[in-house]
Amino acid sequence: AQTYQNILIEKKGEKQNVGLITLNRPKALNALCGPLVSEVIEALQEFDKDDSIAAIVLTGSEKAFAAGADIKEMMNNSYSHNHKHGFIENWSYITKCKKPLIAAVNGYALGGGCELAMMCDIIYAGDTAKFGQPEITIGTIPGGGGTQRIARSCGKSKAMEICLTGDQFTAQEAEKMGLVSKVFPADQTVAEAIKLAEKIGRHSPLITKLCKEAVNVAFETSLQEGLRFEKSYFWGTFATADQKEGMAAFAGKRKPNFKNE
Ligand code: CAA
Repeated sequence: AQTYQNILIEKKGEKQNVGLITLNRPKALNALCGPLVSEVIEALQEFDKDDSIAAIVLTGSEKAFAAGADIKEMMNNSYSHNHKHGFIENWSYITKCKKPLIAAVNGYALGGGCELAMMCDIIYAGDTAKFGQPEITIGTIPGGGGTQRIARSCGKSKAMEICLTGDQFTAQEAEKMGLVSKVFPADQTVAEAIKLAEKIGRHSPLITKLCKEAVNVAFETSLQEGLRFEKSYFWGTFATADQKEGMAAFAGKRKPNFKNE
């Protein structure tokens, strides 16, 4: 098994089918230094390959999900260095995960921390969570998708206000604006995210992946193209054994036994 320095890896849930990744760099409030992000990507890829895992939960501590990219690590970067090394371009691998990825956010989710949460498919937040894109206050702008993902999920006015002021906003506000799907007492956030992962894990893994991919297309293309994509995947599900099983189980008034085929 892999040993990690900045994250913890566990299998959770009644069937041990939920992969839990806990950011664990408490001294820096889980600031997303290069090695930490590389470990997250590696752990995600491992869980994505592991057939015993249905869905993945990504969390931090009660104090901080993540306080952003590591300011001390990047402060002396030059433009040419960033360009040459594709600075933080590897973060996009997080969005390549095919299984459902749920962020369980407690405490600070700032800058890259907020962006990391938004790269996940679903965000559950604890009632003490604080979101924000404070990059503007330190002379830069969001670089992990903040300007684009907030604009797409919450609209222009919210995106502009959040990115141009750098102000923090609460879990309740995040829920109201549609960034977060549910808010829980902080000490229950991770357990609720695991329950959600288990619920999703009762479905066909194959069909779940197709469904995730179809929803993601909504953020990348026109309605017409998105509907075309959806239809081709919807039709495509009828080529799977799990569609036959799911519908036969409904008609036979029994529980489906999905085979991931
Ligand atoms: N990078 C590096 N170190 C960080 C950090 C970060 N983003 N956030 C916190 N830390 C470190 C602090 O330097 C401090 O270390 P020392 O004990 O060695 O001094 C330790 O974590 C604890 O932090 P604080 O003492 O500041 O804790 P606090 O409770 O007083 O404040 C906070 C918490 C409000 C989150 C504050 O730490 C903070 O403002 N952090 C920076 C937030 C930020 O600006 N994030 C955006 C980064 S830029 C970015 O993310 C770019 C992008 O889009 C990819």
